[in-house]
Amino acid sequence: MAIALSSVGAGAVRRCEDSHCGAHGIRSRNGARVSCAVGKVRFLALGAASIDQLEGGNSSAKADGGLGTKELLACPICFDALLRKGPPGINQFAIAKSGFQCSTCKRSFSSRNEYLDLTVTSGAKDYVEVPPTGTELFRNPLVSLIYERGWRQNFERSGFPGPDEELKMALEYLRPAFGGVIVDVSCGSGLFTRRLAKCGSFAAVIALDFSESMLRQCAEFVKQDKSLRTADIALVRADVIRLPFASGTVSAIHAGAALHCWPSPSSAVAEICRVLKPGGVFVATTFLSNSIFPFLPQRRSSSLRYWTEKELEELCKLCGLVDYQKKIKGNFIMLTARKQ
Ligand SMILES: C[S@@+](CC[C@H](N)C(=O)[O-])C[C@H]1O[C@@H](n2cnc3c(N)ncnc32)[C@H](O)[C@@H]1O
Ligand SMILES: [Zn+2]
Repeated sequence: MAIALSSVGAGAVRRCEDSHCGAHGIRSRNGARVSCAVGKVRFLALGAASIDQLEGGNSSAKADGGLGTKELLACPICFDALLRKGPPGINQFAIAKSGFQCSTCKRSFSSRNEYLDLTVTSGAKDYVEVPPTGTELFRNPLVSLIYERGWRQNFERSGFPGPDEELKMALEYLRPAFGGVIVDVSCGSGLFTRRLAKCGSFAAVIALDFSESMLRQCAEFVKQDKSLRTADIALVRADVIRLPFASGTVSAIHAGAALHCWPSPSSAVAEICRVLKPGGVFVATTFLSNSIFPFLPQRRSSSLRYWTEKELEELCKLCGLVDYQKKIKGNFIMLTARKQ
C-alpha cells in the first residue's frame, strides 16, 4: 500500500492509494484533512511525524518511492522505518492510538498507554534481562517518584546550575538544530523534555528512557502541565545503545545527567552519532571526578561512573563527533559536539 504525501507542513494532505479503503477523511490533530482517495489506511508511513514534514520539507530526502519522506521512528532490530497504523504526528495522542510495524522484519510495537515501547524486548513474556545498576536503579518506581522531589536537586551541590540555567546553557549549543526534532535521551521524569517543549525552538521533542516508571512519571508531569496539552511530545522506551531511529535522521540529542549511568558510554555515544544528521548537535551534562558517590572507589565502577575532562573529549572524538566544547562549574560539565 502506498500513501502519497501531496503536500507538506501543517496542512499536509495524505492520499491513500490502496484499493480497499473505507477510511476516508480522517482529521489530523492540527486540523488538516487527511483525505483518502481510494484505499483503506492500514499501516501509514509516519506521515506528519516524518522528519521532512516536521522540519519544513526537504525534497532531496524524499527517496523511498511512494512513501515520500525519510521516517523518524525505526525498528530497534533493523533500524528500518516503522510503518504506522493510526493517526500521524509526534504527540502522545497519536502515538497512543497507533500500532507500529517494522517494514523489514515485521515486528510489531505498540503503545503502553503512556509510552511506545521500542526496546528489543518489548512485549517479552518469558525472557528477562537485568540491566546494570546505572540503568536498573532508575526502574524503581520510588526513585522515579522522588527524582524531581529532592534527588535531582542534590546535584546542585556538585555544581549543577539547576534545570532552568542548564536549559539556557544547552539552548546556546542547540541553536543550529532549532526547528528540528530533538530527542531527550535518558529523559527520566521529563525535567528537560517539558522545558524543551515549552521553549518552542523545536518541531517536536521525543522523551526517551529505558525506565518504565520514569516514563510514567514523565507522562504524569506532562499531563499536569496545562501549557503542554497540545505539545508535540512523544514518549518512547528505548535503550540508549539501540536507538530506534534510522541513521542520520535526528537534528539534536540532549542527555541531561545520564552519561554516567549508561552501561557502555562509548556504545551509546557511537549510537548517538549514528542517528544524528550531518551537522546534528549532541549536548550532555555529567559529573567530573568522584562527586556523586564519594564513597565509591575513585573514577570507575561498572556503572555510575564519573569522568575526567580529557576522557569526555576523547569519547566524543572516538565516536566520530567534532567541534567539542564544554562549560564547567565545580564537578558539573556540559559538553557539546556535532556530527560532521
Ligand atoms: C540521573 S537520570 C537523568 C534524568 C534527566 N535527564 C535529568 O537531567 O535529570 C538518568 C536516566 O538515565 C536513564 N538510563 C539509564 N540507563 C539507560 C539506558 N541504557 N538507556 C536509556 N536510558 C537509560 C535512567 O533510566 C534515568 O532516567
Ligand atoms: Zn525490524
